[in-house]
Amino acid sequence: MTAKRTFLFALSGASLISALAAITVLVGPANAHKDPVTPQQLQAFDEVFMNEVRKGDLLFHGDAATAKQMNVTLSTTGMACAMCHPNAAHTHPHTFPKYQAQMSQFSTLRDMINWCIEKPNQGEKIDVNSEAMKALEAYIYWSNTGSVMTPGKF
Ligand code: HEC
Repeated sequence: MTAKRTFLFALSGASLISALAAITVLVGPANAHKDPVTPQQLQAFDEVFMNEVRKGDLLFHGDAATAKQMNVTLSTTGMACAMCHPNAAHTHPHTFPKYQAQMSQFSTLRDMINWCIEKPNQGEKIDVNSEAMKALEAYIYWSNTGSVMTPGKF
């Protein structure tokens, strides 16, 4: 590299750095939440969550109308989730993902919800990303509020 070329190279490097510095000053660092969340927004977010919890609560207690509306058959034995898991007892959402002996595999909470639908409940497995799954998950997590996360604990 000639002296002139080296000089030009250094110059373009310097201008690149100053351009980047200008962008950083003008645009700011990448930020996922640019605007602070307002109390009204927080309330709206909470309402969305609680709405899911309420739907999940109905499904968990075997409400036929909700199951029909969401197009799911969670049980054919007449047993609802809540009969074996009152107040979502022993659903342990805070221990997932973990090795699940019943399935002989590393499983998520959603896998286990489907296991209970298929095995004890003799129902029809639901899509892991379905509305019914999200509602059941919301209800189970909400019922276990305050539990300490212990992922992997069997
Ligand atoms: C007839 C009783 C029965 C019904 C009804 C039932 N379950 Fe279960 N559930 C079980 C048993 C038994 C286990 C295994 C317990 C264990 O692993 O300690 C279990 C485990 C689970 C677990 C995992 C707990 C863990 O830590 O491994 C979840 C989550 C769960 N059930 C959700 C549901 C949901 C959702 C429904 C309704 C769709 C449901 N269950 C209906 C008996 C039932």
